[in-house]
Amino acid sequence: MIMNEKSVGIIGTGSYVPEKIVTNKELEKVVETSDEWIVERTGIKERRVAEPTIATSDLATKAAEIALADAGVSADEIDLIIVATVTPDMSFPSVACIVQDNIKAKNAAAFDLSAACSGFTYGLVVGSLFIKNGIYNKVLVIGAETLSKIIDWNDRNTCILFGDGAGAAVLGKVEDGYGVLGVELGSDGSGGDLLKLPAGGSRQPVSVETIDNRLHFIHMNGNEVFKFAVKIMGEAAVKALDDAGLSPDDINCLIPHQANIRIIQSAAKRLKVPMEKVMVNVDKYGNTSAASIPIALDEAARSNRIKKDDIVVLVGFGAGLTWASCVLKWCKED
Ligand code: UT7
Repeated sequence: MIMNEKSVGIIGTGSYVPEKIVTNKELEKVVETSDEWIVERTGIKERRVAEPTIATSDLATKAAEIALADAGVSADEIDLIIVATVTPDMSFPSVACIVQDNIKAKNAAAFDLSAACSGFTYGLVVGSLFIKNGIYNKVLVIGAETLSKIIDWNDRNTCILFGDGAGAAVLGKVEDGYGVLGVELGSDGSGGDLLKLPAGGSRQPVSVETIDNRLHFIHMNGNEVFKFAVKIMGEAAVKALDDAGLSPDDINCLIPHQANIRIIQSAAKRLKVPMEKVMVNVDKYGNTSAASIPIALDEAARSNRIKKDDIVVLVGFGAGLTWASCVLKWCKED
């Protein structure tokens, strides 16, 4: 990314997860699994699950309000809202429009972005370009999911992995040399079948048959996604670092997509980044797809794991297949 004019960065973060915790022990009562297997194979101990009446926009709105307060920015200063999600409240209107109304961001354009677990980082890059090009001043980017609504609770291959939550970031102009320094976005649609929600779209509209065949739930080839993930995480981060003129040695804090502790450890190993520099919260929330990176980023910022001048690398992968990485020089004071 050519950062020749305006420097654009994150000026505030926020996150919100539902209160209800579902532990591995509780899942033992639902499917044939064990706390030991889940912890050993994924690192997940518990996840948050939204109440039946709660939708993705409710979580997104709460995360957005916290991020706005953190940035000291009022809702009417926001020019654009981008929500990354694979679990919108409904096909349309977009979650972004529902959030726009909830927070009364009366001057904001709004749209949803679909890049699965890479979605927040895609949104961050898209949003930052609107500011860099002088079109907008302030952009709100949110990753929000209620994956519990599209999980087959009879399928032990998937139901142990996912959770609900939302994370948000406010983007604005920052001091020269800070903010977004390098990016890498990519896709490989030939791997689309590895992770998908087959029914409910125009290919297979919902019917009694699709419901009987459980096609309105997540279907995943876990082993193939795992192989893709361990390869792409390191590669994507290195490309984004190259773009910034930096190397993995420069990383102060790595914020990977929280899918599986073994994937995170493998990425850190490939990058030769010690685990002390890697933000991990997969144990508490499982995989929250588009929400995972912004929740981890917000927790890292609030716990002072990130300080001004730090090089922070976001990197994720997801359905599509997609991947995304963004290198930031952190500009926010504690
Ligand atoms: O955001 C992207 C989303 N997706 C991912 O990130 C998924 C990436 N993939 C993974 O994280 C891992 O592949 C899984 C956690 C899904 C599975 O772990 P694995 O080490 O690859 O296990 P496996 O699929 O090779 O299965 C090993 C065994 C199988 O039994 P057999 O055939 O060896 O008898 C599975 O049936 O473990 C069994 N198994 C389970 N056992 C207890 C699969 N799920 C479970 C379970 N509890 N929940």
